[in-house]
Amino acid sequence: MSFVNWVPSVLFILISSYVQSSSSSFTPADNYLIACGSSQNISFLGQIYVPDLTQSSFSLKDLQDSNIVKSNSTVPLPIHQSARIFTSISTYIFDIHKQGRHWIRLHFYPIPGHNLTSASFTIMTENFVLLNSSSFMSYDNSKFVSKEYSINVNSDTLLLNFIPSNNSIAFINAIEVVSIPDDLIPDQANVLSPSSLINGLTQLAFETVYRLNMGGPRLTPQNDTLGRIWENDEKYLHVNSSAANVSINPSLIKYPQTLTSEIAPNWVYATAQIMGDANVAGLNFNVTWVLPVDPDFAYFVHLHFCDIVSTSLNMLLFNIYINSDNAYVGLDLSSLTGNLDVPFYKDYVTNSTDESNTLTVSVGPELDTDDANAILNGLEVFKISNVARSLDGVSSVEDLVIFRKKSKKIGVVIEAVLGAGLGVVLLGLCCCWLMGRGSKKTEKLKPSWLPLPLYGNSVTMTNSTMTASCISLASCNLGRMFSFQEILEATNKFDESLLLGVGGFGRVYKGAMEDGTLVAIKRGNPRSEQGFVEFRTEIEMLSKLRHHHLVSLIGYCDEKSEMILIYEFMANGPLRSHLYGSDLQSLSWKKRLEICIGAARGLHYLHTDASQSVIHRDVMTTNILLDENFVAKVADFGLSKAGPALDQTHVITAVKGSFGYLDPEYFRRQQLTEKSDVYSFGVVLMEVLCARPALNPVLPRDQVNIAEWALTWQKKGCLDQIMDGNLVGKVNSSSLKKYGEIAEKCLAEYGVDRPSMGDVLWNLEYALQLEETSLLLVEPENSSMNHIQGIGLGPPEQFDNSMSMIDGEGSRADKEHEDTVKDAVFSQMLQSRGR
Ligand SMILES: *[C@@H]1O[C@H](CO)[C@@H](O)[C@H](O)[C@H]1NC(C)=O
Ligand SMILES: *[C@@H]1O[C@H](CO)[C@@H](O)[C@H](O)[C@H]1NC(C)=O
Ligand SMILES: *[C@@H]1O[C@H](CO)[C@@H](O)[C@H](O)[C@H]1NC(C)=O
Repeated sequence: MSFVNWVPSVLFILISSYVQSSSSSFTPADNYLIACGSSQNISFLGQIYVPDLTQSSFSLKDLQDSNIVKSNSTVPLPIHQSARIFTSISTYIFDIHKQGRHWIRLHFYPIPGHNLTSASFTIMTENFVLLNSSSFMSYDNSKFVSKEYSINVNSDTLLLNFIPSNNSIAFINAIEVVSIPDDLIPDQANVLSPSSLINGLTQLAFETVYRLNMGGPRLTPQNDTLGRIWENDEKYLHVNSSAANVSINPSLIKYPQTLTSEIAPNWVYATAQIMGDANVAGLNFNVTWVLPVDPDFAYFVHLHFCDIVSTSLNMLLFNIYINSDNAYVGLDLSSLTGNLDVPFYKDYVTNSTDESNTLTVSVGPELDTDDANAILNGLEVFKISNVARSLDGVSSVEDLVIFRKKSKKIGVVIEAVLGAGLGVVLLGLCCCWLMGRGSKKTEKLKPSWLPLPLYGNSVTMTNSTMTASCISLASCNLGRMFSFQEILEATNKFDESLLLGVGGFGRVYKGAMEDGTLVAIKRGNPRSEQGFVEFRTEIEMLSKLRHHHLVSLIGYCDEKSEMILIYEFMANGPLRSHLYGSDLQSLSWKKRLEICIGAARGLHYLHTDASQSVIHRDVMTTNILLDENFVAKVADFGLSKAGPALDQTHVITAVKGSFGYLDPEYFRRQQLTEKSDVYSFGVVLMEVLCARPALNPVLPRDQVNIAEWALTWQKKGCLDQIMDGNLVGKVNSSSLKKYGEIAEKCLAEYGVDRPSMGDVLWNLEYALQLEETSLLLVEPENSSMNHIQGIGLGPPEQFDNSMSMIDGEGSRADKEHEDTVKDAVFSQMLQSRGR
């Protein structure tokens, strides 16, 4: 393993640093409290933090003193006295004695004088991204930051990887890894709006965003057997005077048989906020807490109740609202607990409100009586890891570092593929991983890896010990390589007047090659985080795939850190701009069917005929391009994945794709199959028919998501009422009926119920036939669609408004607009997940 010493990484194996937690009925099997870079034990809040070196069983030959910084002056907390600084990827490895949920608490204090405030870095475990390119400065106000996560550890070790961003460093002052009782977080919870159940919470990662002790003081690990910190709630009260604090002696709290103080300490239940004297007649109002949250995530809300105010049973009857949803109507604590002063809790899963980036929790009386009251004793809000298994951004561990298990007994094959910087990171991670593993089963490991630097300036990658099959793109036979000079000439130095569009990846220009061939030149945005991977994927995919209904790749250019792809030019641009948001001539129904059929053929080929089946993952009307003859070709393979191997039915992957087109099942289960593309294609079909965006947040809620909205109309057999006004009276009713049926099937909730692309294709062709021969055909059923002509209903007014808002700049801004509506739409996705 000669390459091990390429990477100066810090590696620790921390074995059993047992610190008994004081006066606790629950003894955590794993209880690591680490003072990073410290040379002595540090006592803080009744707990002892031990130096990270003392427990190491590993030789630390690469460790330099410069990795440690210490503060001479006073620090906010004792655990901030020292920090460990990482200049390359570094990993803490914790032996886990008992699998299950663990707290991971990270403490950061940028010790002055070391440029730590600007440090930008990523922290991830093997499965979850905890922080992504996060910088200390992104936390407002704080002089120091503590983060608390809880993740389920399913193996004998927990890896905590610190990855400095390009040219930056990572640092950490203290780490806690502590077991949590299994029942603290349930596997199942109620989802609000629409109400449903969610399963599988156990396997998700949580980040604590709020933990409030209503009406009571700040509680520290001294008062909490699970080392939690509870803050006072007052600053989150919507109207201070609406609430009044109450408290009793904590020793009076009577835990029921089923609960222990691990659920929350008695200090939490012994104080509460109740309805204040707000000078409101009839005492009918809510006490509301408003909590700022990141709207891109779902939240697990844990509410703690204990009736410490009533003088007799059944006096308190109140409602719980989360955002504007009724979470619980008529909560009667004493009938649920059988007594006063008995703790009780409720859990919900929800997202932020649509309008503001906040989550609100309210309690209010059920009845409008004089002695009406409502109570809340404690509130915890946890951010839930998203489909990318991340708690920060949309990149998954996979995206940041691509691992692939080659076979069960052999370790990892790194098949990536990133730029130089990331490449090193990757290598580092690989080494760490191998070394971590190596301590147990070195002889079994036969790593092979394929680093593929995209940049000319990549270093260290051409070592002869590599088993790489190709070293640079040029040797991989991936289409013609163009020089940057040629690209400059073809685009007239990226003349803005030649700009065809702007997407997540970068800008697309029209260009002319020397021989006059028109091309589309996609120039990767160097700042695009996932750019490397997508660039690479697109080249690899497209060079393997050739089909009349797939956009062909002509070549690429990776000179000077550029990521440029050259495609055949598609004169008529994206399908979307022919549907709405531009003044292009409206397409006839026949033309639309032909286009859908072309795109379906392209996808069918991807799914079945290509040497290995390929899942596109980003099927949408902006990725279906039309050539000069309106022949449809599927484009944009940046997100494509090789389909499942024969012995598998799905690919587990981070959910990517475009909001509004995303398969709800894929979103829920993170299992990618061809049927996810079929779902997205169903959205495309509805879009083609209705001529409106997949998502339009300015519409009334039930219309925002075209898939939901059009399905309700299809189920009523009234698709004709929402179709493009330009088509009204010009569509054969049986053709439309067939089309509606196939679109509905594509949008089925479960992948197994959706047709294959082959079936879709066949049905679309049938719909086209029906349209072409409509006059000759005898209508078999007398459906309501037979009377389209008579209805003459155009789409509602607001379509036009919304279009000018969403598509004001035409097709250019499609992708970006998709991003801007994303926030508003998260609620939709959550709904899908809940269903
Ligand atoms: C309880 O309310 C009183 C009066 O508003 C206030 O002075 C006190 O700080 C509150 N206590 C807590 C713990 O919030
Ligand atoms: C927390 O625990 C300490 C020590 O057990 C105790 O003195 C204190 O009163 C408790 N409560 C609070 C609110 O700090
Ligand atoms: C309390 O809040 C809920 C949810 O926002 C609302 O529906 C209800 O009308 C409110 N109750 C009162 C009395 O204002």
